[in-house]
Amino acid sequence: MSTQRSTNIFDIYLKGVCVLERLYIRGQRRLNGEVSISGAKNAVVAIIPAAIMAEGVSVIENLPRIADVKSYVNTLTGIGAQCSFTDEQTMRIDATGINDYHADSDDVRKMRASYYLMGALLARFKKAVVALPGGCNFGSRPIDLHLSGLKALGARIKEDHTNGIISLEADRLIGTSIFLDTASVGATINIMLAATLAEGTTIIENAAKEPHIVDTANFLNMMGAKVKGAGTDVIRITGVEKLHSAQYMIIPDQIEAGTYMIAAAVCGGDVTVRNLIPKHMDSLTVKLKDAGCKIIEGDDYIRVVSDGNLKAINVKTMAYPGFPTDLQPQMAVLQCKANGTSTLIENVWENRFQYVNELRKLGCDITVDGRKAVILGVPVLIGTDVVATDLRAGAAMVIAGLCAMGETRIGNVRFIDRGYERIEYKLKNLGADIERVNEDAK
Ligand code: EPZ
Repeated sequence: MSTQRSTNIFDIYLKGVCVLERLYIRGQRRLNGEVSISGAKNAVVAIIPAAIMAEGVSVIENLPRIADVKSYVNTLTGIGAQCSFTDEQTMRIDATGINDYHADSDDVRKMRASYYLMGALLARFKKAVVALPGGCNFGSRPIDLHLSGLKALGARIKEDHTNGIISLEADRLIGTSIFLDTASVGATINIMLAATLAEGTTIIENAAKEPHIVDTANFLNMMGAKVKGAGTDVIRITGVEKLHSAQYMIIPDQIEAGTYMIAAAVCGGDVTVRNLIPKHMDSLTVKLKDAGCKIIEGDDYIRVVSDGNLKAINVKTMAYPGFPTDLQPQMAVLQCKANGTSTLIENVWENRFQYVNELRKLGCDITVDGRKAVILGVPVLIGTDVVATDLRAGAAMVIAGLCAMGETRIGNVRFIDRGYERIEYKLKNLGADIERVNEDAK
C-alpha cells in the first residue's frame, strides 16, 4: 500500500485540516455510555521519529488518527521512508531507504514535536537540518535545553533564525552527564534519542517522568537500545552500535482520557472511559472526587458518575505525576461551572490562559493574574461563537459547548484534530449533539 492510501485514511477522519470547518454543539445534554481512548499523541510523536534511527521495518500499533501523525507520515516519506498502514491503527515504517537528513517542510513547522527529528537524524546520520518547531502558542517555547544537551553529546549547532532552521552535525556522539535545569519532556526525550547511538554512557539528571517518556524508552529498548530509569528523574543510556526495527503498541493517551473524564463530570451523566492506564490519571481522579464525582476504577477503565452539581476546587499544574498542564484549560471549564470560587495555577507554561477570553464570551467569570486564575462558578453558560486558540484550549471550548445553553460554534477545528481522534464521533456516541460543519461548502 502506498503512502497515498495512508494519507487517505487520515483524510477520512481529518477533514478538519480545512480552515473553514467548525464544530457545532447544542449543549446541556448529559453524557452516558462508553468511550475508548486512542494511542497517546505525545508518545507517538516521539516514537515515530525514533523508528527512523534503524534500518528495516518497524510496526507501530494503537496509532491515533490525529493530524500530528499525518504530518509525520508526510515528513518521513519526504526523507525517503516508506509509511503504510496494515489497518487503521497500525503503521509500518520502512526506514531503510531514508537518504536525507533535511526536515524543513511545512509539516515539520506545524508540529512542536518535530524537534525530535534533531536527535533521531543526528543519531543515525551524525547530521540533521530541521525546521524550528511550531505547535501550540502559549508563550515562548524555548528549545535551549534540547540544544545544550545535544551539544554536550558532541553536536556542533548552527541556528538560522531568519529561515527558522537548525543545523546539527557531529564527528562522533560521546556519552556524558547532563543535568536539565527544567525537567523538560522534550529535552529528556531528544537527548535520550541521540544518546542511544552515542559511544559510552549518558546520564540525564532532573529528567522529566511523563508516561510518554517511559513509552519512548520502552520502544527504544525494543529496538536494542539500553535505556534504564525512564520514569524517574535519572535516566541512564548505554550507547550501542546499531539499533534494529521493532514492533510496538503505543500507550493510551492520558490527556485524551482526562478530557473525557472532565466532560462527563461537567455535563453530568455516567461515562466509562475505557482503554486507559488508571495510574496515569491519579492526579485528575483525586480532583474529580473532591469536586463531588463518583469514580469507579477498573484495570483499564475509569467510570465517572456525576450529577453536574460540582464543588469548587483548587488546582495547580505540575510535571508528572502532578496535575498535567495539558488538562489545565479543560479543568478551567469545570471550575467555571462549579459552586463557589476556585483557583487554577499554571506552573509549567508562562502564558497558558489565552483561551480565557473565549470562555468569557460564554459567560465564564475568570480573573487572570500572571500564572494564577481565580474562577467564580456561574449557574449557566450561554452558547456562542468561539475559537480554539490551541489544541487543549480547543478541547476546553468543546467541554464548554457541551454544557452551555443553546448552540456553540467552535472555529480552528484543525487545532483540535492535532490531538483528538474523531472527537465528534466519540462524543456523539456518548449522547452529545455535535456536528462538524464545513463552512467552505455552505
Ligand atoms: C511537552 O511539550 C508536550 N508536547 C506538551 O503537550 C506539554 O504541555 C509539555 O510537554 C509539558 O508536559 C509534546 O510532548 C509534543 P517541556 P514540551 O519541554 O516538551 C521549558 C499538548 O497539548 N523549557 O516539558 O515542549 C518550557 O518553556 C502539548 O499535547 C525550556 O526552558 O514541554 C516549559 O516552561 C502542549 N527549555 C517547561 O520547560 C527547553 O529547551 C516544560 O516544557 C525546553 C523546555
